[in-house]
Amino acid sequence: MKQTKLAFIADTHHFSKTLADNGRQYHLRSGSDQKCLLETGDIIDAAFAMLAKSDCDAVLIAGDVSDDGEVVCHEEFREKLRVLQKSKPVYLITATHDWCSDENPRRYVGDAVLTDVPVLDHTELRDFYADFGPNQALSEFRTHLGVSSFTVDVGENVRVLALNDDQSGMGGAGFSEEHFQWIEAQLAKAKEDGKIVVGMEHHLLIAHIHPMLTARSCVKDREIVAARLADAGLRYMFEGHSHMQAIDTFTSPKGNTITSVNIGSLVGYPAPIFYVTVQDDGLHIEEERVQSFTHEGKTIDAQPYLKAHATALIDRLVEGALISKDEFADRLSAMGLKGGDLRNLYYVVHPFAKLYFSANVGTLAKVMRFLGLGRFLDPAAVAQYREKPFRDFVHETWLSILDGRGRGVGDENYTKLVVGVGDALVQLRSCKLTLELRQALRSIVTKDYFSNAVI
Ligand SMILES: [Fe+2]
Ligand SMILES: [Fe+2]
Repeated sequence: MKQTKLAFIADTHHFSKTLADNGRQYHLRSGSDQKCLLETGDIIDAAFAMLAKSDCDAVLIAGDVSDDGEVVCHEEFREKLRVLQKSKPVYLITATHDWCSDENPRRYVGDAVLTDVPVLDHTELRDFYADFGPNQALSEFRTHLGVSSFTVDVGENVRVLALNDDQSGMGGAGFSEEHFQWIEAQLAKAKEDGKIVVGMEHHLLIAHIHPMLTARSCVKDREIVAARLADAGLRYMFEGHSHMQAIDTFTSPKGNTITSVNIGSLVGYPAPIFYVTVQDDGLHIEEERVQSFTHEGKTIDAQPYLKAHATALIDRLVEGALISKDEFADRLSAMGLKGGDLRNLYYVVHPFAKLYFSANVGTLAKVMRFLGLGRFLDPAAVAQYREKPFRDFVHETWLSILDGRGRGVGDENYTKLVVGVGDALVQLRSCKLTLELRQALRSIVTKDYFSNAVI
């Protein structure tokens, strides 16, 4: 039997070029976003060309297909889907950015942000994308928002359970009781039909990497939801939303497991496509990244370009910490990170902000010795990395969060340096935030989720 190969992408967030000029307000928005905006159509074209040429049996898209629900973004995106569909079956779920759930549609003209942008309502999305799931569905469930969950068969032995988890009706993402009963019936039917079920939803089932980073991206009552899905027999879930990457397994109190794979955004670093081959020993996951795209007539080397875009975000944030706590908090909010606790990151970032822009590891070690924190930096590690800018470590840590590949794997000295800085932060100011940050750093630097991943 031919092995079934699925291709997953997520968070394509298509932004129409008609919504912005290259003015100040556009640059403020673009500069506060890890993913791209005006480049999205060009990146999607490059990715769709790769998918069309690949040997996958179907393309699956895990929600947030448009920037923020704008009609023009959806229409342009659907045209691209129609072209891809000539080569591959394409199935998608929509998510909250597809109906502008923040009720704040925007376009950017010079110094002005205008809100006169038509958006699709959630009740319109199912029919708008009917050719990409609902029309091929074996079974379909429409939620109280009118959006669609459905099942489709791919290849000879795989059934995809595509779940729209926009609002459970109980104050957060997830599934109503009626939705759950439909899911459980689908899983029972798939078992009867001898199918391997692969799930897809938008929000996270598990707080990957560290809850500090991803708890707010999860479905409400995530452990209850994950347990119920695992106990009903679902083993695999692919998800988007966080724009970060990781794989984790949850075990229910009854001992059933579900593994969830978080796929990063296609239109920001690392611009991933996940090819998932269903084999006897499990699902084999291979990541391929968009390597180049054409933008404004130029060929862009995608990976360095997207890395630079993502890391510039960190530089602007640290720069904010040099100015004031309010400025730092404003820049955090512009990135979509609110929450009282995160505002207090200022106290962690501020003492290092000047060093961030000028120090290499050698200088950092000297300053830490001066502060009585020298014992937290391993001398051999400092010697190996003496000339490397401190800022590079911060950038790489951020990139590891986004791509799920810890830079310290197989490099003990690298790990010691990053973990040592975390320990020093706790020594400097011991509080919930620094303790969590230390744990998160350890996890980020030491885990590589995607090398030879089999789940
Ligand atoms: Fe998203
Ligand atoms: Fe999202």
